[in-house]
Amino acid sequence: MRQPPLTTTASFQALATHAADARDWLMRDLFAADPQRFERLSVEAAGLFLDYSKNRVDGRTLELLASLARERGVEARRDAMFAGERINNTENRAVLHTALRAPRGSKLVVDGQDIDADVHAVLDRVKSFTDAVRSGEWLGHTGKPITDVVNIGIGGSDLGPKMVCLALRHYTHPRLRMHFVSNVDGHDMDAALAQVNPETTLFIVASKTFTTAETMMNAQTARSWFLGQAPEPALARHFVAVSTNTEAIKTFGIDPANMFPFWDWVGGRYSVWSAIGLPVALAVGFGYFSDFLAGAHELDEHFRTAPLEQNLPAILALVGFWNRQFLGAPSVTIAPYHQDLNRFPAYLQQLDMESNGKRVTRDGAPVDTPTCPAIWGECGTNGQHAYFQLLHQGTDVTPIDFIAALRPAHEFGNHHTALLANCFAQSEAFMKGKTADEVRADLQQQGLDASEVERLTPHKTFPGNRPSNTILMERLTPSTLGALIALYEHKTFVQGVLWDVNSFDQWGVELGKVLAKKIEAELGGEAQPAQHDSSTNGLIARARAAV
Ligand code: F6P
Repeated sequence: MRQPPLTTTASFQALATHAADARDWLMRDLFAADPQRFERLSVEAAGLFLDYSKNRVDGRTLELLASLARERGVEARRDAMFAGERINNTENRAVLHTALRAPRGSKLVVDGQDIDADVHAVLDRVKSFTDAVRSGEWLGHTGKPITDVVNIGIGGSDLGPKMVCLALRHYTHPRLRMHFVSNVDGHDMDAALAQVNPETTLFIVASKTFTTAETMMNAQTARSWFLGQAPEPALARHFVAVSTNTEAIKTFGIDPANMFPFWDWVGGRYSVWSAIGLPVALAVGFGYFSDFLAGAHELDEHFRTAPLEQNLPAILALVGFWNRQFLGAPSVTIAPYHQDLNRFPAYLQQLDMESNGKRVTRDGAPVDTPTCPAIWGECGTNGQHAYFQLLHQGTDVTPIDFIAALRPAHEFGNHHTALLANCFAQSEAFMKGKTADEVRADLQQQGLDASEVERLTPHKTFPGNRPSNTILMERLTPSTLGALIALYEHKTFVQGVLWDVNSFDQWGVELGKVLAKKIEAELGGEAQPAQHDSSTNGLIARARAAV
């Protein structure tokens, strides 16, 4: 059904009126007025606890946001996604990453394809292959067990497996070292190859399309490097592929028996649950990989069945939408207070910005409000000593998602206490700030004279009233990590429905790819100055001169 422009909807207009009042609210006052605020504005599911009380919202805001979600058809679109309808309307595809983590027996059949059977047939193959590599039964061509795995992929074929392998490093096999090569920059491949031995290395060429320029070049380089030191038949023990494109894999020279398929209804940035997760299953074993899928499925069930008012992804999406639309927040910071979630902000950048970085609706009309904020971040406490200055005292309001585990996976208890103290202190500081009067009182107490107090007060004042969410889990495990990723996937989905964009295509990446091909030819061959502007020509000329 065609959606009316967002700003013309009754709920959006009600929110805009409400927002005019909310602009003057101080969260300090909201907390003071309601001792139950934390209890009322927090929610728990699938091993994740979300505290969203430190946002500039009240009960009415949440009611209005839930009405907007209903008016935009979030529940119906969610059900359509789970049922396998072709909601990716510019590519005419279903969107079924949720089916990749559904337990065996879910009986989903879409357009005659038995999704349940196909998914579990591939998972069975992933299990037997990863069991064989991990146990040492799968040997390299000289009879030695595999010690190193090099995943060659980019975007969704890299970020997910890499982030998850890092996050679950405590669960990884002691013999297997994981490497990830994504960049066409030869330094990336060079660094990986310098660490591995061709006799004991398994290469995974991971590409949904098997046409992505960077991955193809990296895969060819790895193949040549390998064949420089091993005979051709050895390829079958050292190269496997994960893709939807069987023909291209055969052409590349990988045995189809070593191919792990997936399907066009799995978006690249939603593919870690498919055979693209092969490095994860190799690293942590199929049992923990299954727990990872099960954690995501538990969150899926919550998303599918909980009323919007108690639905974690919906709340995260709605509060984020409020901050973007009505408080004007241009970006969102992801701050995992867990070093093993180091790559999580990078993972979310693709998930969110490739999904909702759109400017037209599903029908091609311009969206009449700003859409996806920029997503960025870094682990706490490191970020505190870099860019938190801007978050506390800069001119933009930047909402923050704090993410932490209550229990660590190490034994340095005092470190964990310090880490959590910092995490909670930051969210308190962002909310409360420090008023000029409080600063003055402090400075006077330190014995500064009156003029010095007045000179320093503006610099030491914190406006506060800056929104944040805190997501807690008991521990970072395969299951809670699965749930955490699914939480953000569905948050992204809900926001996409509110803006009425297609969250599942990514046409914006195409133009640069086409131009890069042309310029690559010019760097190695004849320049075509008539095709470019003076800046691009100047840069090409400099690079040609340097060769
Ligand atoms: O160019 C963007 C993109 O298509 C992403 O959406 C995708 O995750 C990545 O490239 C890699 O694509 P593939 O898995 O087909 O190599």
